[in-house]
Amino acid sequence: MIIFNSKYLLIILFYPRFTVTLQPQNKTRSFLEETMKIGNIEFGPQPLFLAPMEDVTDIGFRMLCKRFGAAMVYTEFVSAEALVRSIKSTVSKLTISDEERPVGIQIYGRTTEDMVEAAKIVEQAHPDVIDINFGCPVKKVAGKGAGAGMLRNIPLLLDITREVVKAVNVPVTVKTRLGWDCDNLIITDLAEQLQDCGIQALTIHGRTRSQMYTGEADWSLIGAVKNNPRIHIPIIGNGDITTPEEAKLAFDRYGVDAVMIGRATFGRPWIFKEIRDYLDNTGAAPLTVDEKIDLLEEQLRINVERIDEYRGILHTRRHLAASPIFKGIPDFRQTRIAMLRATKVDELTEILKECRERIKSLES
Ligand SMILES: Cc1cc2nc3c(=O)[nH]c(=O)nc-3n(C[C@H](O)[C@H](O)[C@H](O)COP(=O)(O)O)c2cc1C
Repeated sequence: MIIFNSKYLLIILFYPRFTVTLQPQNKTRSFLEETMKIGNIEFGPQPLFLAPMEDVTDIGFRMLCKRFGAAMVYTEFVSAEALVRSIKSTVSKLTISDEERPVGIQIYGRTTEDMVEAAKIVEQAHPDVIDINFGCPVKKVAGKGAGAGMLRNIPLLLDITREVVKAVNVPVTVKTRLGWDCDNLIITDLAEQLQDCGIQALTIHGRTRSQMYTGEADWSLIGAVKNNPRIHIPIIGNGDITTPEEAKLAFDRYGVDAVMIGRATFGRPWIFKEIRDYLDNTGAAPLTVDEKIDLLEEQLRINVERIDEYRGILHTRRHLAASPIFKGIPDFRQTRIAMLRATKVDELTEILKECRERIKSLES
């Protein structure tokens, strides 16, 4: 059993290979019609966003994704309550770099006071966007009424949104789900209400809170919001995108303004290049095995330098465990176990060197 320092362990271990169900809509919009904008930030056609992810979208990973074409990146979510109380580990999550712009800082909380106060603190860190999380399904957040928990208290959700928009001069956006459960698929009305509060973009993860991460994302409801003639803010679609083909379908069939990618980036920050090249038909060569393993090693170095050797390695394990690069290596089980147990950088680098040779010998 590998110990990950994360409450999302189960999600990762049981993350299946989802297939995206993309059902055609009657109305589709060509991406050429309009270039996506949030406030004054221009993204160009069919931009790809890196999803905010706790314990994943630290500054190092955000920069890697940016290098490969992520048009927008977000910090992991930041607790408004902890921020207001100046908890050091929370405040450190506000560190952003000019090189990763445009970047959004995401906050979550359960009272209007905390959220407004937190938004003002976040504004001092000069993000390009402040994103409000109304989608986190985990018990310790949603169970207390924050994140997706707000989907059961729409008046408070709207009050928070309205007051945060009023309190800051940065564009405010929201990320949420389809509703609390399948009997409460409120996203179509909610999108209009949020727009009326003054948000400048809405990200929709095509699941309900009850679904957590199970089942398949329902893109038809995301498309219904996008194709609602009363909606004029950009709609960012999210959920189960793992391949260039799926991203293209999401744009073509649902007309979303941007596609946000989460779990498929684990151990694969180059996914943005793969999708970008496909969407733009660049014909560019894919990354080589050496380039990909170099990147995983770079990520390891960044994490070790940023944290320390042991915790830096722990932080990288999620990516090593999920990276598609090791798929197909015969008799890989023992090596995989060793890779996910290593506690020293030298040890891990040796294992990665062995993997590199084995993958290359497979290809030749
Ligand atoms: C490990 C992990 C951490 C996450 N943390 C956040 C978060 O901090 N804020 C947020 O809005 N969503 C968070 N999410 C949800 C993702 O942003 C995204 O909505 C979800 O994974 C669906 O997209 P995907 O199918 O492309 O992964 C997290 C998801 C995972 C797997």
